Amino acid sequence: MITATLPARAGLPDESLDLLFREARTPVAWTDEPVDPAAVREIFETAKFGPTMMNSLPMRLTVVESAEARADLVSLMAPGNQEKVATAPVVVIVSADRDFHETLAETFPHLPGAGDKFPDREQRGTLARMNATLQLAYFLIAARAHGLDAAPMTGYSSTRIPARFLAGGDQDLIAVVALGHADGAATHPRNPRLPYERVVTHV
Ligand SMILES: Cc1cc2nc3c(=O)[nH]c(=O)nc-3n(C[C@H](O)[C@H](O)[C@H](O)COP(=O)(O)O)c2cc1C
Repeated sequence: MITATLPARAGLPDESLDLLFREARTPVAWTDEPVDPAAVREIFETAKFGPTMMNSLPMRLTVVESAEARADLVSLMAPGNQEKVATAPVVVIVSADRDFHETLAETFPHLPGAGDKFPDREQRGTLARMNATLQLAYFLIAARAHGLDAAPMTGYSSTRIPARFLAGGDQDLIAVVALGHADGAATHPRNPRLPYERVVTHV
């Protein structure tokens, strides 16, 4: 645990920062503890408040529920990810909707005609992926905040998963996220992070 050096002020207590970041790990295996099927909704209802460009909210979630869908997804994951996806209590596919501009009148109503600012599909794709990736991060941290462990994965067939699972709409695949309770015994030691001095430039 890192001792806070900032003056006391409104903010999360140390134990919450540990839960969300400092002691949280990306699981590599799961315990047998089940996850309430309502968990995805609970996580979503928290994560949805994270900021996106013009409140564009392009992230879409596909909850993999049937045994058939789970088996198909496992077969499309990289070999090293298959066991993690096969055994996870809950698995969600995260994608980005390029047609986010169609809901801007509803979600960004104080700027009339906001949706008309994005006529170019390629540009919408770039913006949708960036903002959905931000929302993925909110989703991961919200999962931790609600007491679960989350394993994001991009090791998969990036062409065959969209073909099988993202047929509706104009969507780009962002990640597969498995949710459950980490089996700590199977987790390797925490890898180092780059220090502040190598990451942050003061100008
Ligand atoms: C976008 C993204 C994709 C990832 N893809 C994979 C993956 O395909 N397979 C895997 O085992 N881990 C994957 N990871 C997990 C990272 O390797 C892990 O979060 C990182 O090493 C930090 O580990 P820690 O949280 O245990 O410190 C991915 C993480 C992110 C955020």
